[in-house]
Amino acid sequence: MRANATLMNIQQVIFIPLLGTICIALFYLSIRGPPPPVAEDVFLPQQSLVAKFHLDNSTFADLSHEGDAAWEALLPANKGVVLASNLTSGLHFWATVAMFHQLECLVMIRKTMQNLGSSSPEPGDRSFHASTEADSVLDAVGYCFDYLRQSLLCSADSTLNPVAELTVGDGHVLITDGNALWQQCRDTSMIYDWAIRSGQPSRSPLVHLQNQDP
Ligand SMILES: *[C@@H]1O[C@H](CO)[C@@H](O)[C@H](O)[C@H]1NC(C)=O
Ligand SMILES: *[C@@H]1O[C@H](CO)[C@@H](O)[C@H](O)[C@H]1NC(C)=O
Repeated sequence: MRANATLMNIQQVIFIPLLGTICIALFYLSIRGPPPPVAEDVFLPQQSLVAKFHLDNSTFADLSHEGDAAWEALLPANKGVVLASNLTSGLHFWATVAMFHQLECLVMIRKTMQNLGSSSPEPGDRSFHASTEADSVLDAVGYCFDYLRQSLLCSADSTLNPVAELTVGDGHVLITDGNALWQQCRDTSMIYDWAIRSGQPSRSPLVHLQNQDP
């Protein structure tokens, strides 16, 4: 009897406050709403829209090693990491800008395709065929496909790419050419500047800077 009573007490001591806390938390959320889905209070540079005419570029379309330098030059030396500032707390943290993360994924997919087509793959690339471990190339490329899928759906670019009729021999095929078009693009220059100014990320995830003067 005595042991049971103690058990009851422990249950009351633990569960009643826990239940209370959950109720208060749910009540708070019902008033405040769920936390905002995007990072708040973080400084982001203003990107103006610029009109650009897109043409086919054979350098980037080239899957041979001739095209490697142009693709690699798309990423800044620090791979697009920036020192971001939380305007409310004054804290700073390192983050990779999504545009650069997306480009890095494309560079990796391109490199994997090159290696698949090559008779003498680079060391470590064999693992693409053999291994499905968490740190394998297969895993990283799979992650990239999923990440790019979500990025494309998120930006939902509604630029209209006309469908054209192409004469092939005696017949016609319908093609969609996404190039040779005017596009409204967000200016990338301030994002490149930001990454270049940020330099290499330090070990510490949070760096507290006193002074925000440029
Ligand atoms: C910025 O700081 C505020 C106040 O501390 C915090 O509520 C907010 O979540 C922080 N934002 C990010 C992205 O860390
Ligand atoms: C293609 O890209 C390369 C490398 O960025 C550049 O030098 C070249 O001018 C571009 N060609 C066209 C036709 O835009």
